[in-house]
Amino acid sequence: MTAPGILAEYNIRSVRELELEAKRVMVRVDFNVPLDEDGAVRDDARIRAALPTLELIRDAGGRIVVCSHLGRPKGKRAAEFSLEPAATRLAELLDCEVLLPDDCVGDAAAHLVANQRPGQIVLLENLRFHPGETENSEDFARKLVEMCDIYINDAFGTLHRAHASVSALPRLVPDRGAGLLVERELSYLSRLTGGGDPPYFAILGGAKISDKIEVIERLIAVVDGLVIGGAMGCTFLAAQGIEMGRSKVEADRLVLARHLLARCEQRGVKVFLPTDHLVVKALDDDSVARVAFNGDLEADDIAVDIGPETAARFAQVLTGGDPDIAAPRTVLWNGPMGLFEMDRFAGGTNTVAKAIAQSAATSVIGGGDSAAAVRKAGVTPLISHISTGGGATLEFLGGKTMPGLAALRGGRR
Ligand code: 3PG
Repeated sequence: MTAPGILAEYNIRSVRELELEAKRVMVRVDFNVPLDEDGAVRDDARIRAALPTLELIRDAGGRIVVCSHLGRPKGKRAAEFSLEPAATRLAELLDCEVLLPDDCVGDAAAHLVANQRPGQIVLLENLRFHPGETENSEDFARKLVEMCDIYINDAFGTLHRAHASVSALPRLVPDRGAGLLVERELSYLSRLTGGGDPPYFAILGGAKISDKIEVIERLIAVVDGLVIGGAMGCTFLAAQGIEMGRSKVEADRLVLARHLLARCEQRGVKVFLPTDHLVVKALDDDSVARVAFNGDLEADDIAVDIGPETAARFAQVLTGGDPDIAAPRTVLWNGPMGLFEMDRFAGGTNTVAKAIAQSAATSVIGGGDSAAAVRKAGVTPLISHISTGGGATLEFLGGKTMPGLAALRGGRR
């Protein structure tokens, strides 16, 4: 079988091409999922996203050994970072037995893998309990490779990390390839880096311009419209001399913001910035919120969401409701419009999520917060692709080399 298009471009084999029967197939997944106060999985999207690859391997008769990190335990064992909640959820979703040795390497793990019965999955305990993982240690990778005939990376959200299970390990395994999630993510996101089907609009929000400079610069070269909200919007407004009170403004990025706006103008990229905000005097539950139009913010006002006029305008533009602006056929969204994790400040983010869902465009959601916002708005099924990556998606869109992809290249033909 030939490699599906996008992977062939990277000289990476697909899990579909490999002979999996009776082989120990180690699958690096990204089960770095949020947990609730009781330690149960609060959002299982990343676990569900890995299922197609795991099912494919199971159907082909492979013996599945799954490995992942969870959180940042800094090289030490810590109960709150155990993958046990993920193991429970995986067992429910696949309706199979998931065995979790209490260490990802060593005798107990090796014994479970050696005695694995058909239908059982071995999920290795958190890789980051060992410092060798984040140090990209070849010694640590050599311990993992003892339990693996074939290596598959389906951890899109971790491809930007030069860590042992992502970088050193695959280089030691001649039979290596990418899983179906990585393939799907690459095929959607790479369409956007080269410019999507026009008109192509990017909606950017979240806290900082500084985190996203490379992405914004690359986007300006390919998009037709830029819709900006969140604290990022406040910085762009402040850069135009608009008083933003005590709102989150990156004072050291005002020159950059002006430069980016000038580039948009040169390229003919339409820019949509907020015209009003929901503002409060303090970030607590009792503070009274009011709507303030640009120019009306008081010195102690803090913008916590885009205002109703802005939300309606953004929705109109995204759904083709303005006769003078062609409806986008491609939409990329990264970053919420305000403090959406507080329900009373989630209105603008919700309106944008619903407008994207309602639009006829191919819609791609990149980044953890925007994906959470889409789920909160209840419109997940109406989105073309919700990326499982946060930092990884931004680094990919920013054109950076991904260590996890580099390590998958080549392999036995
Ligand atoms: C993520 O949540 O973005 C990935 O799982 C990577 O996690 P990290 O930022 O701790 O490496």
